[in-house]
Amino acid sequence: MYPKVRKAVFPAAGLGTRFLPATKAQPKEMLPLVDKPLIQYGVEEAIQSSIQNIIIVTGRGKSSIEDHFDVNFEMEHLLESKKKGDLLKLVRDISDMIDVCYVRQKEALGLGHAVLRASELVGREPFAVVLSDDVIDAEIPCLRQLVDIHEFFGASVVALMEVPADQISAYGVVDAEPVDHHGARDRLFRIRNMVEKPKPSEAPSNLAIIGRYILVPEIFDSINAIPPGAGGEIQLTDALKHLLRNRPVYGYKFEGKRYDAGDKLGFLKATVEFALRRADLGGPFREYLKSLSL
Ligand code: UTP
Repeated sequence: MYPKVRKAVFPAAGLGTRFLPATKAQPKEMLPLVDKPLIQYGVEEAIQSSIQNIIIVTGRGKSSIEDHFDVNFEMEHLLESKKKGDLLKLVRDISDMIDVCYVRQKEALGLGHAVLRASELVGREPFAVVLSDDVIDAEIPCLRQLVDIHEFFGASVVALMEVPADQISAYGVVDAEPVDHHGARDRLFRIRNMVEKPKPSEAPSNLAIIGRYILVPEIFDSINAIPPGAGGEIQLTDALKHLLRNRPVYGYKFEGKRYDAGDKLGFLKATVEFALRRADLGGPFREYLKSLSL
């Protein structure tokens, strides 16, 4: 039996420049999809994947994330006195939801660097990484799908998605061979190599890494060993490539739909689709959309 994945790291110290000006004084992770901040979707996915220990890597100007998962006595008192039981539950459930720790990344030196900041809190055990601006709608939570593969192979696993050639340069892209796992060869891959943000002509495949990972603790040694890469940042993809020299890394084409909510268009798409699915809003929102002469 391999050790269980108990902890999830949420890097949330990036500057969110694609979403300016909204992210000038407000963390991208707190942008709401309908009425719930992006990071809460990620935290709920971790909990639904039986991962209870949440480690959030924050930076300057990110205190609203801590406040969101904290108790708000004043609001609870107000809702209690006004007998708004449903809203009170909504507010309490957030602070009751998780055991959360925070660690700070003083400078946004890259995703790999942000993950390394969590190494003391993670210790020498496998852990998950969730980029909360990738919101994933799936019947089985994406993280759960990766944990299942990890528990079988005891190795690192990254979530993969097919991406059209004209968008591939925005991602880490893998060179990988299919693996027959329980008779299915179309979802699981063993990764041979990976490239961060390749030109379309240099991309080794159309399979891109998206924001869910299960990593073995040796990744910390790899992050420590690599120099800054693309954009002068310590890249997680470069650390994974370093890890590949000694350890297998698998990729799993997850079942579900991913929205890039850190991007304005992706955020709008997610907002519309999530709102349409809501029992309380879906009907009238659909009617409203139909009434627009598009
Ligand atoms: P992104 O690539 O989305 O970067 O980071 P960003 O800075 O947040 O946003 P843009 O591209 O400027 O709009 C992916 C994830 O890694 C975290 C981000 O918070 C996000 O969750 N990150 C990135 C850090 O925590 N620290 C960093 O130094 C860089």
